[in-house]
Amino acid sequence: MPDYRFSSAFQAPTGSVIRELFKYLSLPGMISFAGGYPAAQFFDRTALAAASAQAFAEAPLDCLQYAATEGLPALREQLSLLMGRRGAQVSMDQVLVTTGSQQGLDLLIKVLLEPGDTVLVERPGYPAALQALRMAGARVLSAVTDRDGLDTERLAAQLAALAPGTVRLLYCVPTFANPTGACLPLARREQLLALAARHDLLIVEDDPYGALRFSGQALPSLLELSQRSDDAQGRVVHLSSLSKVIAPGLRLGWMVAPDAINQRCRIAKQTVDLCTSPWAQQIAAEYLRGGALEVALPGLLAGYRDKCQRMLTGLAELEEYIEISPPAGGMFIWGKCRQGVSAQALLEQAIERRVLFVPGAAFYAEAPELDSLRLSFAAPDLQQIDTGLERLGEAFKRL
Ligand SMILES: Cc1ncc(COP(=O)(O)O)c(C=O)c1O
Repeated sequence: MPDYRFSSAFQAPTGSVIRELFKYLSLPGMISFAGGYPAAQFFDRTALAAASAQAFAEAPLDCLQYAATEGLPALREQLSLLMGRRGAQVSMDQVLVTTGSQQGLDLLIKVLLEPGDTVLVERPGYPAALQALRMAGARVLSAVTDRDGLDTERLAAQLAALAPGTVRLLYCVPTFANPTGACLPLARREQLLALAARHDLLIVEDDPYGALRFSGQALPSLLELSQRSDDAQGRVVHLSSLSKVIAPGLRLGWMVAPDAINQRCRIAKQTVDLCTSPWAQQIAAEYLRGGALEVALPGLLAGYRDKCQRMLTGLAELEEYIEISPPAGGMFIWGKCRQGVSAQALLEQAIERRVLFVPGAAFYAEAPELDSLRLSFAAPDLQQIDTGLERLGEAFKRL
């Protein structure tokens, strides 16, 4: 065999811990609280099939041909309207369509960071962001969170202690975070933007879950707030996705960024995939234009509310073993095993009993809290949630 030579980032790369768990999914009878998979039963198959047929009938050549790197005008227009309904004023020229929001982050890393640059990420935070940043050679600093997300007081102290200009980027998921489910309160959002202005920071607001609120009042996104503030204008790049509200199989996300960043990301995307699948874009544009998302959303939210509630009810029975923070939206419940029980040891017992979750270690840039874990209520049905939690209870009893 030749002696292949790899780039420094790929000498000994480690894959995603969550994806490593997928091998257990094929075990008969396995119930998974592991992935951030949307519920298959909520996929709006009829309306998507209709949108797909319509898209192909109306514009077959646009579906089949390459398209502009920034995305099809028809979809960008729909996404700018969607952003408007969510509260931010965004023109279609500001929307860059991406192949999932994950690509948006990757493009930003390409255009904004040099190896060794410092990036702040919530602790615990989204593992694929940590992975992408690490591969780019970024120095990842943890920003402390609590039940309400980023602790902006501690962030203020952390930033004040660093030399000016040290932090290039702050990546966060302020609304129904992955993994904690936390939603950053308004006062902290405002403080975060004030810190961005004071320390000349760029904030990446990753928002795939914001539309999945099933209780409480909607809060403005960081993007929307930054548009209302003279000091914070241009300091937020907003990433979002159709994965969690329509279907991840579309692989459609988008970025809203200041012009100078948007243009560079578009050029970076030219070398990554030329363009996002025009066929998928046509289908999504058709689906959104027909108002199907607004029709489907209430049912989706009610469905996730029921699942979350069912999981919280089941977890209340396991209170002696695990402490949790109930979310108001999204797909995740974050837990801490009591008495320092190791989530990895629990996982081994859980796999034997055919239930999966993600041990919390995957979500830390350094010094993982080994007693933490993430449970997703999104994909399993109500019966599976009950059975899975009974099995988890048995696993706890064995430790
Ligand atoms: C916080 C966060 N960002 C981005 C993504 C990726 O989403 P997409 O399917 O749009 O690439 C996920 C998916 O789980 C996520 O949890």
